[in-house]
Amino acid sequence: MALLFHTTPARLPIWQKLFAEAGEPFIAGEDAVTDPAEVTAIACWTPPDLSRYPNLRLVLSVGAGVDHLPALPQGVALARTLAPGIEAMVRDWVVMATLMLHRDMPLYIDQAGRGEWRTHPVRLSTSRRVGIMGMGRIGGLVAGSLQALGFDVAGLSRTGSTGTVPMFAASQRDAFLARSDLLICLLPLTPETRGILNAETLAKLPAGAGLIHAGRGAHLDAQALRAALDAGHLSAAMLDVTDPEPLPTEHWIWSDPRIIVTPHIAAQTDALEGARHALTVMQALRQGAPIPGLVDQARGY
Ligand SMILES: NC(=O)c1ccc[n+]([C@@H]2O[C@H](COP(=O)([O-])OP(=O)(O)OC[C@H]3O[C@@H](n4cnc5c(N)ncnc54)[C@H](OP(=O)(O)O)[C@@H]3O)[C@@H](O)[C@H]2O)c1
Repeated sequence: MALLFHTTPARLPIWQKLFAEAGEPFIAGEDAVTDPAEVTAIACWTPPDLSRYPNLRLVLSVGAGVDHLPALPQGVALARTLAPGIEAMVRDWVVMATLMLHRDMPLYIDQAGRGEWRTHPVRLSTSRRVGIMGMGRIGGLVAGSLQALGFDVAGLSRTGSTGTVPMFAASQRDAFLARSDLLICLLPLTPETRGILNAETLAKLPAGAGLIHAGRGAHLDAQALRAALDAGHLSAAMLDVTDPEPLPTEHWIWSDPRIIVTPHIAAQTDALEGARHALTVMQALRQGAPIPGLVDQARGY
């Protein structure tokens, strides 16, 4: 019963040391597999050929999302990394992006490029309604930070279950959008949420709204965003995720002054945090205990 490490080689020494110290069986990459029957779990971003491993019980995504993984063979469980560092990093990026749109930074960066000294009205954070789509581990953290800065925060989740801010269920999405001056997307990518940021949903935002997107590129119809910006219905956007990634050099988004793009860097998994989570997953698997970060494969997150 061993974990097969199949991710960034630079992380290997840290994982190897932690597993050795814990006395937990560990296989340092596919080249080190002597008996495929020993592999019970695989930690990966892109999985190897899973059919090689007859006793595979679990695939562990080394990121927070699982949308990049193919459907797993029957009976193979799926888990995602739980790392406080990832959540804190995304929180920091989203808070930064929210403040940047709140304080019109795309406009000022554009003006600065022309050496133009021109002021625009400044609004209090208390007068800005922020809507967070996806109130999971990351959305909940972001909500608390933005609330502490004075923003009028609400959240949208599938079920609308209670949070620390006013909550809307997926069935109440239109009402949620109508009160989102700044819309933050922190959704997982699932069949239900693919393309959710489209012409119809963007049209439901208040005039002049801004978009902050750190979910997945395929949530957003970029042409719909462009049309909403051109129509003056949206004012600006901050994107950490795009479709495709990497965004081609010649893509129009790069040169649009109303949009600021970062190359999917809101968070990066810390090697030690990822290894620690993998170890707790393997220990839980061995003990038949609940798997931390287990994904509901039918739901997609
Ligand atoms: N840019 C980056 O570097 C980066 C890094 C990490 C994560 N991410 C993105 O952030 C996402 C969220 O991560 P997380 O750990 O917070 O996820 P999570 O804990 O699984 O939470 C997901 C949230 O989305 C809600 N949701 C799911 N489907 C929905 C729908 N159809 N309509 C409305 N709400 C829906 C869920 O509602 P319920 O609570 O009702 O189930 C839950 O609140 C990841 O999947 C990934 O796409 C990006």
